[in-house]
This record gives sequence, structure tokens and C-alpha cells, in this order.
Amino acid sequence: MRTKKLFSKVEIFKTKASLQTHLQKARSAGKKIALIPTMGALHEGHLSLLEYAKPISDLRVCSIFVNPTQFNDPKDLEKYPRPIENDINLLESVGCDVLFLPSVEEMYPDKNEHWHIDLGELDQIWEGEKRPGHFQGVTQVVYKLFTLVQPHIACFGQKDFQQVMVIKRMIEIKDLPIELAICPIIRDKDGLALSSRNMRLSDDGKTKALALSRSLRYVKDHIHDQVDLKEIKNDALKLLTATAGITVEYFAICESSSLKEVNQIDFDKQHVVLVTAWVEGVRLIDNMIIT
Ligand code: PAF
Repeated sequence: MRTKKLFSKVEIFKTKASLQTHLQKARSAGKKIALIPTMGALHEGHLSLLEYAKPISDLRVCSIFVNPTQFNDPKDLEKYPRPIENDINLLESVGCDVLFLPSVEEMYPDKNEHWHIDLGELDQIWEGEKRPGHFQGVTQVVYKLFTLVQPHIACFGQKDFQQVMVIKRMIEIKDLPIELAICPIIRDKDGLALSSRNMRLSDDGKTKALALSRSLRYVKDHIHDQVDLKEIKNDALKLLTATAGITVEYFAICESSSLKEVNQIDFDKQHVVLVTAWVEGVRLIDNMIIT
């Protein structure tokens, strides 16, 4: 006989004060807290962050907050999907303990709140160049969440590589006692990196989008001591642009922590290939660590 799986209820808090009271008790009981910040519209990628946190923490706090300060285009903010009932079901399916679900007023009581953290070039290049102010918005909300939750561990997906590097830098600058867990990219069986944006692609678009991960894989497979990086990059780009219907925004081989583009690989350092491209009007990003 098949048994029906019973999902545990996630405790939902909408105010900072109620969340803090709850977390204070957990902290006093010696519980290790993991924070998984999200903007909702959860998919397998987000759930993998919760799974990642499970064996390394005692209490998993997921936040769902569509953060207005990181959107450049008000239309994008408006269009952002908010399937909250489904998100709650998904959180319960992975046994998440706490959901923090604040309103905009709760997170930004002062509408004119000003924020700037000097991240050097890190928030000016790549995504930062295309979306000015985006990473200041991200650091603003993540810092608020860190201060509120005071997690021992914070889990972010490698999928948004530059975001993770920005948060890593913020943790260093602010000297926060938080362990940053960078969780692997989750791909579908064909290699497409999971993203809430994929649901806007047709089946044909999804097939086209596979060229992104193929081009990244090409670089990874061809990196070795004597390699001519320019040639590899050109070949990978050819592979990408050979697919009709793809418009590449950037494709770069970078040293991981500075995200500066390199002409040569220093095998003592970590390197990543970043790609952003448009398919069927959807902006897709992907990356792969290559050394
Ligand atoms: O990656 C996201 O979903 C958001 O940028 C984050 C980290 C939750 C901040 O709003």
C-alpha cells in the first residue's frame, strides 16, 4: 500500500519582531541557523539550497521577498511572478522550518533609505554594468536579512555567480560571522541551468538555450597548460552564435573573486566562465567554474 507523505508545516513570520523572537529562542537552545534568501517563484534550484542546508544546520529559514531596490525596470518588478501558495507547498515538501515573508514596508520603513557599500569594480562590471545599482540593492536587502536573522550559514546558488562574489565581498568588508555556502548549479537533464525565467521559454527556446551550457562546457573541456585562451573563447562563442535565435550579451573567462577577464590562466587561482544571452526575449545567465 502506498503511504501518503506527510509534509511538516513551515512556520510563517511576516514581521521582523516576531521572527526575531522565534529565532532568539532557537539561538538560546544552541541551534545552528541557516538562511536561504529568495525572491520566491521557487524551483528545484532553490529547493537544492534548502537540501544543501539540511545536514549542516538545525533550523532552516527561507525568506521570500521580491526586493524592489534591485530592479532597474519597474515593469520587471511588477511582472515578477509571486506564486506564494505553491512556494509554501514546496517549502513544506522539503521540511523548511521557517518562512520569512515580509512586506515592502516591513523591510523598508524609510522610503528614502540610502545605501552604498564600496565593492570596487565588482558591482560595476558584467551584470553590474547592464543593471546599474542592482548589486547595491542586493547587498542592501541581504545585509538587512543577515542583521535580522544572524544566521550561522547563508546559502546562495552558484547560478548567480557575480551575486555570490558580491555577497562574499560584503561579508568580508562588514566582517560578518557568517559562513557563505555556495551551492552548485542545478541543471535539467539536458544541461539547461534552472531559473524562474525558463518558464517564459517555449520548448524550442529551451533547446536553443542549451547552447549556453554547451559553450561553457567547451571552455572547461579545452582548458590546459598550453592553451591559447583567445582561440578557445572564439571557438566557444562560435558554438554559441551558431544557434539561430541567440543574442550574446557577454561571454568572458574571469578570475573568480575579482571577476576580471583574463588572457591567461593562473592554475593556482579559481576561474569561471560567465555568459549572458537572450533567447525569445528572455535574458539568461549561466556560468561554469573551469579551474
Ligand atoms: O538571488 C535572489 O533571488 C536575490 O537576488 C536575493 C539574494 C534573494 C536578494 O533579493
